[in-house]
Amino acid sequence: MADAHPVVVFDAFGTLFDVHSAVARNAAGIGPAAGHLSEIWRAKQLEYTWTLSLMGRYEPFWALTERALDNALARSPEVDPVVRERLLSSYRALDAYPEVRETLARLKARGARTAILSNGDEAMLADAVSAAGLDGELDAVLSVDRVRVFKTDPRTYALVEAAFGCARDEVLFVSSNRWDVAGATAFGFACAWCNRSGAPDEYSDLAPGRVIADLSALG
Ligand code: LAC
Repeated sequence: MADAHPVVVFDAFGTLFDVHSAVARNAAGIGPAAGHLSEIWRAKQLEYTWTLSLMGRYEPFWALTERALDNALARSPEVDPVVRERLLSSYRALDAYPEVRETLARLKARGARTAILSNGDEAMLADAVSAAGLDGELDAVLSVDRVRVFKTDPRTYALVEAAFGCARDEVLFVSSNRWDVAGATAFGFACAWCNRSGAPDEYSDLAPGRVIADLSALG
């Protein structure tokens, strides 16, 4: 289905880039705990963004990503901690979902401007974009590092208005994270929830305008 928003903004980790691909790539060295380890790693990484933001503190997302992995490994004593460095270097070069490049090209062809708005710090985002071969494919890569607070603080979503000089209702925000869709909806963006896993809905009072199975529905 076509949509007319002149600015389309994507969350990065989990939406354009598969956060579980770091563990998947090293699964043989991790063993049966791989799936669980990846889930804890992601959950703790996000938890740290919310707790720090509520305290009025900030540290770059990469530091939280390292700390979350350490916690996940500590909770998984059966996993050899030697995998730590390999997992961290894989996280700097996550797989992009297969439809990402084509989706960005289609949006560009209809004249939309595109961006990333992510909790990731500038260096993490530069590495992810470059590893996925997406250099030059986006009009802006916006990190919350500029305002030193994490999503869902409204100051993070306001980075899009500042970068594009646009009104909130001109923006379609796309995220696979339902909590992020809730935050962006509260801010005033139109939202599409990319629900790849068929997760049950939540935040029903902050519902997305669209639910899509993957990004190929956009354009
Ligand atoms: C991001 C987090 C949500 O990319 O993973 O902002």
